[in-house]
Amino acid sequence: MTGVGGTEPGSQGEGDILIVESEDAVTRLTLNRPERRNAFTIELYRALTRALEDANNDHMISAVVLTGSGSVFCAGTDLDDLCEATEAAIVEGGGFGWLKPPPRHVLENYWNGVLLIPDRRLVVGRLDGTIAGSAQLSKAPRNNEAQSFAGTITAAFVAPWARGHGLARSMILEVERLAREEFNLVVLNLDLRATQRAAISLYEGLNYRRWGTHPVYARVNGEIVPGHYYYKRLDEQA
Ligand SMILES: CC(C)(COP(=O)(O)OP(=O)(O)OC[C@H]1O[C@@H](n2cnc3c(N)ncnc32)[C@H](O)[C@@H]1OP(=O)(O)O)[C@@H](O)C(=O)NCCC(=O)NCCS
Repeated sequence: MTGVGGTEPGSQGEGDILIVESEDAVTRLTLNRPERRNAFTIELYRALTRALEDANNDHMISAVVLTGSGSVFCAGTDLDDLCEATEAAIVEGGGFGWLKPPPRHVLENYWNGVLLIPDRRLVVGRLDGTIAGSAQLSKAPRNNEAQSFAGTITAAFVAPWARGHGLARSMILEVERLAREEFNLVVLNLDLRATQRAAISLYEGLNYRRWGTHPVYARVNGEIVPGHYYYKRLDEQA
């Protein structure tokens, strides 16, 4: 998970977000994101899992103390913020496919699943430290060598309360950076409903070219809505 608009959770070293100290037969694990009230990120979750496995495998260790830096032990997970932002966007009408919010466990499973897909990157946008939106970058499946240079942007959204602060623009620019530098892509594709005016201005403002319109793209409240298809070459000067 990559973040824009605030502290990047993945940019901290594992040793920073989880402090591991062993003395005598005791390992002390300190969740160390006091500025986020030690809320769990996927990186913190992985670091904690590894540290617990290490302690379990170390026959000298007989006890583990789990604590948190600052005044709060743990405020839950960034996943809660992501789910709340998603629900708000769905209720407002721009919830990347969902027309009404699914039960919370379905959303949590969805986001956990996204984080596990190897050829996908999740970029989150934070407003005042709280996750308020996200965008996903996917590579073509590995068997599709002919299109290995192309990626797709999907599910870009910002919660209604966080719009107009430049978060979507920053997230899409971060997606483009990952596409170029991590996946070596030269083209990004996306499609959206013709009614998503803010998104159309966002992408056209970032030089995405519309190459077609599908007249029967989506059905919203019983009405058929057309959709626009865009691409952007990353190897061209802006
Ligand atoms: C599209 C969306 C992601 C924009 O989020 P945002 O954080 O408010 O966007 P930003 O503040 O980064 O604005 C970037 C650009 O988007 C466009 N934009 C954003 N809100 C707009 C609005 N209400 N009307 C027109 N253009 C708008 C503008 O071009 C803006 O550039 P500017 O500030 O220089 O004018 C958000 O409105 C949203 O989540 N909509 C519903 C979901 C959706 O349509 N997703 C896209 C499907 S892939």
